[in-house]
Amino acid sequence: MPEILAICGSARKKGNTALLLNEVLKSTGMESELIFLSDLTIGFCTGCLNCKEKKGKCPKDDDMQVVLDKCLSSKAIVLGSPNYYYDISGLMKNMIDRSIAWCYLGIGEHTGTEWHGWRPFVDKVTGFVISQAAYGGEMGLETLKCFAEWSGLNHVGSVIASVGAQTVKEYPEYIEEAKKLGETIKENVCKQNKIR
Ligand SMILES: Cc1cc2nc3c(=O)[nH]c(=O)nc-3n(C[C@H](O)[C@H](O)[C@H](O)COP(=O)(O)O)c2cc1C
Repeated sequence: MPEILAICGSARKKGNTALLLNEVLKSTGMESELIFLSDLTIGFCTGCLNCKEKKGKCPKDDDMQVVLDKCLSSKAIVLGSPNYYYDISGLMKNMIDRSIAWCYLGIGEHTGTEWHGWRPFVDKVTGFVISQAAYGGEMGLETLKCFAEWSGLNHVGSVIASVGAQTVKEYPEYIEEAKKLGETIKENVCKQNKIR
């Protein structure tokens, strides 16, 4: 299982988000995997909240379980999304909405509260990448931060790359930022897991 997991919310395999995520992963120097939400079948959250009744089990039997398993076994999760209309892409938002079930994993058993479960992602390291043409990415960043806060993830840094109609390859400064983010993620993972 990879130590660092990157989740891409763009369907463009060679797009800017994927490129930046790859730079982040490479610079961690750790075992990593990049997954594309567009390759997975993930239905939308209907808000039934059966997951709360069923201790985190969503009644939808789809690839969200794959995402959860990969997230659980990784030491850090890097989320990347293009800016679509001043926010993250629908693919990424859909995954985040469905992740509400994760908040209820083991509810009551370990926590003694009916409000949340054992919060498997508490203190797990996370970083974000947003690619955009020009502006509006801050809102997407806020959405991702909200997800991190709710899940207990430890957000250590982000990159917003404004590339116009070009590819991010034309912008060495953003590639550099992505590499730095990778290094920061590695440092925090090592600190967290007490490895050198
Ligand atoms: C549906 C859609 C909405 C977009 N909305 C914005 C926007 O609000 N602001 C912006 O700067 N770029 C916007 N863009 C441009 C993308 O964010 C930009 O091309 C990004 O680099 C694409 O990332 P990708 O190559 O990883 O798919 C939009 C593109 C699409 C397809």
